[in-house]
Amino acid sequence: MTALELLDGNACIVGLQWGDEGKGKIVDFLAENAQVIVRYCGGANAGHTVNIGGKKYSTHLLPVGVFRPTVMNLIANGVVLDPVKLFGEIDALAAQGISVTPANLRVSYKTHVVMPYHQAEDAARESAAEGSSIGTTRRGIGPTYADKAHRSTAIRVADLINEDRLKTRVGEIVTDRNVMFAALYGLPPMDWKAIFETYRALGQRLAPFVDDTSRVLIDSWKAGKTIVFEGANANLLDVDHGTYPYVTSSNCSALGLFTGAGAPPRSVNSFVGIMKAYCTRVGGGPFPTEQDNATGEYIRTRGREYGTTTGRPRRCGWFDAVATRYSVELNGITSIALTLLDVLSGLDEIKICTGYTLNGKPLNGFRADMDTLAGVEVVYETMPGWKEEISGCHAFADLPANARRYVERLEELMEAKIAIVSVGPQREATLLR
Ligand code: GDP
Ligand code: IMO
Ligand code: MG
Repeated sequence: MTALELLDGNACIVGLQWGDEGKGKIVDFLAENAQVIVRYCGGANAGHTVNIGGKKYSTHLLPVGVFRPTVMNLIANGVVLDPVKLFGEIDALAAQGISVTPANLRVSYKTHVVMPYHQAEDAARESAAEGSSIGTTRRGIGPTYADKAHRSTAIRVADLINEDRLKTRVGEIVTDRNVMFAALYGLPPMDWKAIFETYRALGQRLAPFVDDTSRVLIDSWKAGKTIVFEGANANLLDVDHGTYPYVTSSNCSALGLFTGAGAPPRSVNSFVGIMKAYCTRVGGGPFPTEQDNATGEYIRTRGREYGTTTGRPRRCGWFDAVATRYSVELNGITSIALTLLDVLSGLDEIKICTGYTLNGKPLNGFRADMDTLAGVEVVYETMPGWKEEISGCHAFADLPANARRYVERLEELMEAKIAIVSVGPQREATLLR
């Protein structure tokens, strides 16, 4: 299957584990054949890395289509947008010769805006929670989605660019939050006028980018353009289907694509799951196959497993076929891209979690439920490793036999085709099967 065939009928790219599966790399690879790239969930909690011609770039809010001159990039309604971070990214890219203008980026007027009091609340809640904190990125993601649900205290992009409405809203909301934050967290009051002035200016800068992205999507689909939906975060971090409460605050599985992108369900035909050859997790929460030992350290060092957004060391462990298979099934995955296979080179043995037991009895499949996950014992299958470095391989057939066997075994366990195998961070280190 070629990358173009994979995209036939528009592709949703979704992480099957706890994030950082290499979605950025794969979307960038597929974007060669796409005209539109859409971010539909999450916000600056995401960190997507691409490596182009020996240079490494990270995006948090911008779709990675900005690195392809002919691509139109959309930030859709399901995203929570921090305008300070957005323009920080745009300015940093401009300094590197990459241009992001209204000609290649449109932002939905329905997108909710992350405000300074959202970040303050995120940080205050995390600090106050002591031992039971979620380990958020402190980017204000949860409080912004909470305001979206509250409605009366929300600020959307349409409000940000309407000066009068912004002034009234910010005045009311900040006055309200000052009382709350002082009582709950002992925080000093925020100056609503200063916040209003800063965000008014940001709104003016954002105005030329603002559009009806749903309309753009529907028109693009009708015109037969190829669209790639760039998932952020991952299925096991989905607010409904992930390992709640250790999740993010949006429906970041493929199930959230349609509401988050404002796209008709029929406009997406292919659901490409991204999974790494092992597991990682940042922040708190259950992680049955975690290896808090020399193996975990080996993976962390070789995979450079440090957060793209926060720099935190990622927790590392063996591939969990029970959890990942749950994601494959729930998201209706039509094909898989397996990433970071090269990280496992050099290990004598590689383990795969093929089952869980609870109180000595086998569990039937995955339960995204804390009480169950906290008590499970992991059943492992062991496979022989391989010694060779594989980043220079150009075809699947060039991989050492044990690496091929490992991929084939994962494919069997997932019951889904592994169509892409990534063996290095560069665009070229991508094998099609
Ligand atoms: P995302 O959030 O899913 O886009 O993933 P991140 O960019 O946060 O983390 C993935 C990391 O792995 C990045 O540093 C990528 O450059 C890197 N990466 C992606 N694919 C591969 C691969 O196949 N091999 C290696 N060694 N690194 C990879
Ligand atoms: P990408 O798109 C890894 C995790 C955080 C934390 C939890 C809640 O790069 O794969 P939040 O700030 O969203 O309230 O944090 O979710 N998390 C991610 N972990 N990759 C991500 O995105 C993540 N987005 C959120 O670490 O545990
Ligand atoms: Mg990431």
